Amino acid sequence: MILEEVKDKKEYRGLSDAFVSRVVHLYDGKYNIYVEKEKKKLIKEVRAKLRELYGAFRLPGYQKKEKILVQMKSWDDKETAERILSLHMSTLERMHSYQKLYARLQQEIPFKTVLDIGCGLNVFSLPWMGRVDYYGIDVNKDEVDFCNVYLKKFELTGGVRWGDVLSLDTVVKTDVCFLFKVLEGFEALERGSTEKLLKKITSPYIVASFATRSLGGGKAISARRLKWFEALVPAAEKFSLGGEVYYIIKRNV
Ligand SMILES: C[S@@+](CC[C@H](N)C(=O)[O-])C[C@H]1O[C@@H](n2cnc3c(N)ncnc32)[C@H](O)[C@@H]1O
Repeated sequence: MILEEVKDKKEYRGLSDAFVSRVVHLYDGKYNIYVEKEKKKLIKEVRAKLRELYGAFRLPGYQKKEKILVQMKSWDDKETAERILSLHMSTLERMHSYQKLYARLQQEIPFKTVLDIGCGLNVFSLPWMGRVDYYGIDVNKDEVDFCNVYLKKFELTGGVRWGDVLSLDTVVKTDVCFLFKVLEGFEALERGSTEKLLKKITSPYIVASFATRSLGGGKAISARRLKWFEALVPAAEKFSLGGEVYYIIKRNV
């Protein structure tokens, strides 16, 4: 089966089946999988897409994260947390904005529980967020396990769930749900997935963010591309910080 063949490489083994299948389906009809050469091309293309959707965020030294975590002295040890946050592109780019970001969010939304969808390593921003119950979801088993080791090590309440959020029927209700830099990736996987996902989220507040610079802090990318999102859901507030634009959405749930 294509799914097994795609995952038959260390790098992809930790991805959820539902997520990989979703990517395989993007190429339905493009290749004849009964012709060996075409099947190989399909596998190559699927792996490249997977790398683009989740793997491109890992930075050199990523494998050292477990060793760094051993050195972490307390749940709010900012110095060590920064070393871990700097191993993932999204958290590295946001690292110097966490203080301001969470101060602002706490002012608008007094939250004690968080659901972080497509969380990556964002749990390591808890030292700036404060001691809240933290729930995350990500497709990447390796990252999920690692985040759970941290939560367990310091007996923090919460947990990170492994899975393709687009395939889950329900998600936990929290005071706020973070959708940091994930929606454009979800839309690339399945057009209209944001609308469906918003219906699944039962938290009274959502904070969604989008990059305003290309990956790696490069060229500015036009915010006009986000018109679809602004039309889909009215935001109570919108602000830019670091290389991101944030939307606070208040809902009647
Ligand atoms: C650009 S990164 C953002 C990480 C984090 N939200 C942040 O901003 O620090 C996208 C994350 O979404 C995860 N992801 C991608 N597709 C997903 C899906 N269908 N379900 C759950 N997580 C997904 C990836 O593994 C990756 O960690």
